[in-house]
Amino acid sequence: MLVLGIETSCDETAVAVLRDGETLLSNVIFSQVDIHNKYGGIVPEIAGRCHIESIHHVVRQALEEAGVRLADIDLIGVTEGPGLVVSLIVGINAAKAIGYASSIPVLGINHLEGHLLAIFLQEKVAFPFLALIVSGGHTDLVRADAVGQYRVIGRTRDDAAGESFDKVAKMLGLGYPGGPLIEKLGQGGNPTAHAFPRSMLVNGNFDFSFSGIKSAVRRHLEKNSDWNTCEKLQADIAASFQEAVVDVLIKKCLHAAEREGLERLVLTGGVAANGCLRDRMFSEAQKQGFTAFAPDPVFCTDNAAMIASAAYLRHSAQLNGTPLMQLDAKSNLSF
Ligand code: KG4
Ligand code: ZN
Repeated sequence: MLVLGIETSCDETAVAVLRDGETLLSNVIFSQVDIHNKYGGIVPEIAGRCHIESIHHVVRQALEEAGVRLADIDLIGVTEGPGLVVSLIVGINAAKAIGYASSIPVLGINHLEGHLLAIFLQEKVAFPFLALIVSGGHTDLVRADAVGQYRVIGRTRDDAAGESFDKVAKMLGLGYPGGPLIEKLGQGGNPTAHAFPRSMLVNGNFDFSFSGIKSAVRRHLEKNSDWNTCEKLQADIAASFQEAVVDVLIKKCLHAAEREGLERLVLTGGVAANGCLRDRMFSEAQKQGFTAFAPDPVFCTDNAAMIASAAYLRHSAQLNGTPLMQLDAKSNLSF
């Protein structure tokens, strides 16, 4: 079975071809990062226009690289939300047009379910498991009992983890997206140099809050105006900030897994590309008797392979999606 995945929820125009849910034949990602970088963040109008200009080429390239024709495709999976409406609508309309013209069924996919099921591109993790989805817009702890059966047991009350990386990077005068830049800067730094707050660790629920860490970094920069005179000072701030975020994510995730009686953990979403978070998750999970999984970094950040994977798994589980002509952008879609 050949699935064409289409993902345009934010600033990546991505298309992938997946065979039988396990053999990835192509995974094309056209990133707009260089275009948005000069504005210090994503400009929705520009993102939408870029998707319109590139979707056609990216679909063609994905088919060519996979060595298949449109007529060979059995199912199209497309992100229907959450995300930017002006971005989502481009992928959705492309999927509708292709599906209608070529009589191929189209399945609307929740972007977060795509992140959650990305791991199946590499390993068939047995249900049930606990997923920690950490991205630019979400920080969700989700209990997954089967494909399509999810329960959110914790989420952020303010900034998402990735958003806090992006905002702190901006304060430090780094570019966008901030996560990889903070990680790189922090590599030479001391993660214990500054004790930034670990918010909401003791109150026994599984929600997160990252705005306190971000504000503490801002106050620190205001009080220590020499921070930008020395690379070592900047590296210490980046490493200490990252350490605080990672600490909270890991501790909450492991507590939640224990409370839910789950043995397997799946770390996913753009922030899961972070080496420090991955290493700590793998080692601490193992120490406490859990098994942790994380997709390779290329499948953590936005991509269409995960959307194809989710479409394949939902189709195999005989779960219906929105009928083709009613598919529309759902900017606030959640689990
Ligand atoms: O999943 P994703 O690609 O897009 C959304 O669905 O939001 O996640 C993007 C987020 C951005 O906030 C970015 O800064 C963060 O993931 N990110 C990272 C790393 N790579 C991407 N954060 C920390 N360390 C990284 N290496
Ligand atoms: Zn994402």
